[in-house]
Amino acid sequence: MSGKEFQTYFPHSGRIDEANTSTEIDEKTIAELEEIVARYPQPRSAVLPMLHLVQSVDGRVSPRGLEVIAELAGITPAQVSGVATFYTMYRKHPAGKHHIGICVTALCAVMGGDILYDKVSEHLGVGDGETTADGSFSLERIECNAACDFAPVMMVNWEFLDNMTPEKATQILDDLAVGRPVKPNRGATLTSFKENERVLAGFNDGRADEGVSAGEPSLLGLSIAKERGWAAPKPGAAPKEEAPEAKEGSGK
Ligand code: FES
Repeated sequence: MSGKEFQTYFPHSGRIDEANTSTEIDEKTIAELEEIVARYPQPRSAVLPMLHLVQSVDGRVSPRGLEVIAELAGITPAQVSGVATFYTMYRKHPAGKHHIGICVTALCAVMGGDILYDKVSEHLGVGDGETTADGSFSLERIECNAACDFAPVMMVNWEFLDNMTPEKATQILDDLAVGRPVKPNRGATLTSFKENERVLAGFNDGRADEGVSAGEPSLLGLSIAKERGWAAPKPGAAPKEEAPEAKEGSGK
């Protein structure tokens, strides 16, 4: 390898922080974890939502959380840890009250994602994987959110804030800091990382129908199809023969 070493953009990835043994998991949490397990035919199928519930309580995947999940799922803590460290939505260190994600994958980056990240990082005074001293915000570079039609995208507690600019982002952070309500472009008014994690664990907060569920760019293909009378083929129907001129034009 040449003089320069490869630098990862994910310094916060890796092991669960075993040194931080603090936990708020109590009897009520354990009863709710059991409730999640009861939703599935196999206890181990409940690992992902259980991890979200642990995050809703401890703000991260805590060592105690790992232990309890392993016991209820009938697997080892190492296996639970393997799942928690594979998926990037599970945090190894405490999230802030609001967890900010800035997409820096190709399309968002081209549309200003890196500039947005730099501005948010400067405004909060924290870097990737860090949390502000008062615990209000944590920041993370994230990979494609499947919202490229709204690039560049910022997420707050996994909710989408589309077509973001540094100016709009800093205003949103200032509003959140003083508790002013902020509405994402799609979804319900922002709450907190922990409250959202509870919803991801499958505990309905009754706000699923609040806000817009899909933006115009995402629905454009559907409206064009409706306009032209296009429909998906019926399951099992034979594929339509392609017109010869279309085949020639395809370059195949
Ligand atoms: S590249 Fe950012 S949402 Fe897809």
